[in-house]
Amino acid sequence: MIRICPSILNANLDDLPGEIEKVAATADLIHLDVMDNVFVPNFTFSPERTREIIESSTLPIDVHLMVADVDKKVEQYSSKNAISMTVHFEACQDPLATLKQIRTLGKRAGLAIKPNTPIEVVEELLPEIDMIVVMTVEPGFGGQSFMASLMPKVEKARRYLEQRGLQDVWIQIDGGISPSTIEIARRAGADTFVAGSAVYKSENPSKMVEQLRLLASRC
Ligand code: DX5
Ligand code: ZN
Repeated sequence: MIRICPSILNANLDDLPGEIEKVAATADLIHLDVMDNVFVPNFTFSPERTREIIESSTLPIDVHLMVADVDKKVEQYSSKNAISMTVHFEACQDPLATLKQIRTLGKRAGLAIKPNTPIEVVEELLPEIDMIVVMTVEPGFGGQSFMASLMPKVEKARRYLEQRGLQDVWIQIDGGISPSTIEIARRAGADTFVAGSAVYKSENPSKMVEQLRLLASRC
């Protein structure tokens, strides 16, 4: 199963309902990038605004928390209609406890790793992970180039899941996904794709989501 998750980071933030509506017919989830200007050098949404966006969305939300000391903050950003919440390995003091807490909130627990973090860190956390997020750009900004050199991490993540029979764990790629990169990521083993600029800078965002899905499903 392929999932396409448009990121609204570079959409028109003054009309989020309208922007979400543009992809409602074709997207699986909306990817919401929460940045605190501490973990990354950029700020997007406060906890209150994050909950508001989640609550008003017509599509389920995949929340990507790029927030420091996130162990203590997961609950502040949580709201009904968020299907998954992802925290960064690098921002957690106790990743296992934080992943458990996300599950307790009734969400799928995502663990993201930055480009320089080895995939091996996820291995012992797998029993509490519902989604492995391999970042293919440095977190902080949309519109950066996809790092194809990280595909061995994705391949290894897929092997971990196969060896353990973990069929319900998703592998998400975040950063630089477009019609020219999605097949590379799919072949490496990803099944869930975030696409920000590719979708919202295209003339027809809904069609772009369809095109990405088609490309990924043909590999
Ligand atoms: C980067 C964000 C990504 C970003 C993706 O920190 O986590 O989700 O919005 O945007 P594109 O697809 O433009 O790289
Ligand atoms: Zn993201």
